[in-house]
Amino acid sequence: MCGIVAYLGSREAYPIIVKGLQRLEYRGYDSAGVALINPKGELNVYKRKGKVSELVAFAKDKDISGHVGIGHTRWATHGEPNDVNSHPHYSQTKDLVIIHNGIIENYNAIKEGLKKRGHTFLSQTDTEVLAHLIEDIQQNENMKLGHAVLAALNQVIGAYAIVVMDKKDPSTLVAAKKGSPLVIGIGAEDFFVASDASPIVEYTKNVVYLEEEQVAIIRLGHELRIRNLKDKEITPYVQKLNIEIESIEKGGYDHFMLKEIYEQPRSVLDSMRGRLHADTGDIKMGGIVDHEKKFEKAKRIIFLACGTSWHAGLVGEYLFEEFARVPVEVEYASEFRYRNPIIYPDDIVIAISQSGETADTLAAIELAKSKGATVLGVCNVVGSSIARATHGGSYTHAGPEIGVASTKAFTAQVTVLTLMALHMAKVRGTLSESRYRALLYEMESIPSKIEVVLKLNDDLRKIAFTYKDSNNALYLGRGVSFPVALEGALKLKEISYIHAEGYPAAEMKHGPIALIDDEMPVFVIATKGANYEKVVSNIQEVKARKGKIIAVVTSGDKDVRAMSDHVIEIPETDEFLVPLIAVIPWQLLSYHIAVMRGCNVDQPRNLAKSVTVE
Ligand code: G6P
Repeated sequence: MCGIVAYLGSREAYPIIVKGLQRLEYRGYDSAGVALINPKGELNVYKRKGKVSELVAFAKDKDISGHVGIGHTRWATHGEPNDVNSHPHYSQTKDLVIIHNGIIENYNAIKEGLKKRGHTFLSQTDTEVLAHLIEDIQQNENMKLGHAVLAALNQVIGAYAIVVMDKKDPSTLVAAKKGSPLVIGIGAEDFFVASDASPIVEYTKNVVYLEEEQVAIIRLGHELRIRNLKDKEITPYVQKLNIEIESIEKGGYDHFMLKEIYEQPRSVLDSMRGRLHADTGDIKMGGIVDHEKKFEKAKRIIFLACGTSWHAGLVGEYLFEEFARVPVEVEYASEFRYRNPIIYPDDIVIAISQSGETADTLAAIELAKSKGATVLGVCNVVGSSIARATHGGSYTHAGPEIGVASTKAFTAQVTVLTLMALHMAKVRGTLSESRYRALLYEMESIPSKIEVVLKLNDDLRKIAFTYKDSNNALYLGRGVSFPVALEGALKLKEISYIHAEGYPAAEMKHGPIALIDDEMPVFVIATKGANYEKVVSNIQEVKARKGKIIAVVTSGDKDVRAMSDHVIEIPETDEFLVPLIAVIPWQLLSYHIAVMRGCNVDQPRNLAKSVTVE
C-alpha cells in the first residue's frame, strides 16, 4: 500500500525512481508521481492517476533531468485517486515537496490552523497539510529542513513514512518513519530511500532501516545522520541486505503469482530447514525457545491476523487443538483491537503476517501486550514492524512475495504453525511418540508431494477454461480443509473478480444450497480422512441440484470420481497436513481463470499487498 522511492547522488534520478516505483507496484496503488530538481535548480513535479506506465507516458516529453528526486505510488485514503491528490505534494511556496505513506489523523486541526495563517490547499489530502506545516515551521522558526521536519512531526498524530525535498537545498533529503516502513540504501556516492528494499537491492546491499519516530538527514557527501523525535542523535545501524535481485524478478514466468506458486516446494522446505529433525524427533525453533515454559502451561492460544494469514490461523486452530490439546481462538486483528478482549496470563498470542506491516495486526499486538500477553510472531519479512513488536516467534522463509494474492506465504505460515503445534505437543506430551514421529516424517515429504500437484497444471488449466465465465463459485471443505475452502474462495475473488464463498461443507444446506443450479461450480476437498463419508454426502446434495463438482481427492479415489465433473488427485498424506497440498490446485485454478478473463493477476484492482492503514 503506497510506495516510496527517492534518490540523491550523481546519477540521473528519474530512471532509478521509475524503476523503483515499478518494483513497488505489487504493493497496490492507484496513482503515481515524481518530483525532480533539475541542474538549473528548478523543481518539476509530474503526477498521474493510474499506473506508473501512465506517469512515464505523461513525462515523456518533459524535463526529467536531475540528480535528486522523490517518487510515490499512492493508494487513496483521503481524497479520491486523481492527479491532484497524487503525491508529491507542494508546500505553500512550492519550494518543498513531500511524499508520504500512512495517515495523519489530526490533519484537519492542523489544516484549520494553517488556513488562518494564510495557507491555501490544492488537494484533499492529509499529506499536503504536512508539507505546509513543515514549511511554516521552517520559515517562522528559521530552522533547517531536518529540524523543521522534526518539529512538525512532534505535532502530528498518526502514521507516516515520508521523504521531503527542498528546492533551495538540492543536496539534501529528509526522511522519517512512524508505523510505516522506510529503508535507506547507502551507495558508494549516493543514497536511496524506499518503502522496502526491492527498489534498492540492485544498487547497494548496505541499508539502514529507520526505527519508529526517527528522522534521517541525508546529505550528499556527508554521512547519514539520524535523530529521534526528541532530537537525540542516533548512530545509524547499517545492515547487509540478504535478498538477491532474482528473488524479486519474474524469472521467466508470466506472473509473479505463478512463480510463487511454483516456488512452494522450496519455500515449505526452507520454512522447515534446520527446524525439523525427523530422525531424532526434534523440532528446534530458536525464536520460541525462551517461551517453552509458556507453551507447556498455556491454557489458550489466540491467533491474530488478517486476510490469507487469518486463514493460516484457522488451519493452526485445528492443528494446535488436535496435536497439543489446547483451546484456540482465531481473531481478525481488526475486530480484536476494538473489543475489550479478555487475556489471561496463561494465554499465548500468535500474530501471523506475511508483510509484518499490517496496521490492524500491529495495533492488535500492542493491545495484547498492554494486557500483559506474551505475543509471538509468524512473519515473512525479516525486521518488519510486527517481527520487532513481538516477544519472539518464527520467521516463515518463503522469500519475497510480490503477487498481491498470497500463495507461498500461506503454505509457509501453515508449515511453521504445524511445527509449532507439534513442538507444543511434544512439550506437553499430548501425542503418542509413534504419531508424533510419523507426522515429522510426513512433514518432510510435503515438498515432494507439492511437486506432484504442480505437475497437474495442464489439467487445471483445462478445468479453469470450463469455469472461466462463471459468476459465482462455492468452495467446500470440512475439518482442517474448511479454511482451505475459505482460502480457495478468497484467491478466486481476489484475482478473477468472480464472486466466491467458502463454507464448511455441512453448512451449505443452511443457505448457499439455494444458489446451486447447473451453472454453479462447487470446489470441494474430499480427501480420505475422518470426514470423508460426510463430504461425499455433501457432494451428493450438490449433484442432486445439478451443481458442478470439482473435487480434490486422494490419489486412487474412485467413489468421488464417479460423482464428480472433474477430480484432481493429490498424494495421500496425514489428514491434518492436507491443507499444505490441497490448497495448490485452488491457487492454480484461480490463477488460470484470472488470466483467461484478462485480469491483472499480480496487481488486482483495489487490493494492496501490505495494508498499512486500518
Ligand atoms: C492484504 C493482502 C493479503 C494478505 C493480507 C494480510 O489484504 O492482499 O494477501 O493476506 O493483507 O497481510 P499480512 O501481510 O499481514 O499477511
